[in-house]
Amino acid sequence: MLLVKGEHQRSVVPEAGVTILQHAENNEVEWNSFCKRGTCARCRCEITEGIGLLSEPNEAEQARLDPEEIEEGYRLGCQTTVTESGDITIKHAPYF
Ligand code: FES
Repeated sequence: MLLVKGEHQRSVVPEAGVTILQHAENNEVEWNSFCKRGTCARCRCEITEGIGLLSEPNEAEQARLDPEEIEEGYRLGCQTTVTESGDITIKHAPYF
């Protein structure tokens, strides 16, 4: 699984049941976050590969993100968990 933040990227081992944000933190990838409960969107990211290997959008993500954003592959790093291992690429994509 590849975590991309700006010009940096790091390959990390995907773990089922673990959020994208936890993967970043466990692997010392600086991934902005604040609330960790799906409201601030600082951890927002774009899934460019492997969306089917991640959890379905939960209530917090559905409340914070527009349906179009979810359709385009945008998710909240603190809410989305890996469900299966495989090729996954995630780009940090906050609003600001
Ligand atoms: S850390 Fe606030 S929405 Fe994820």
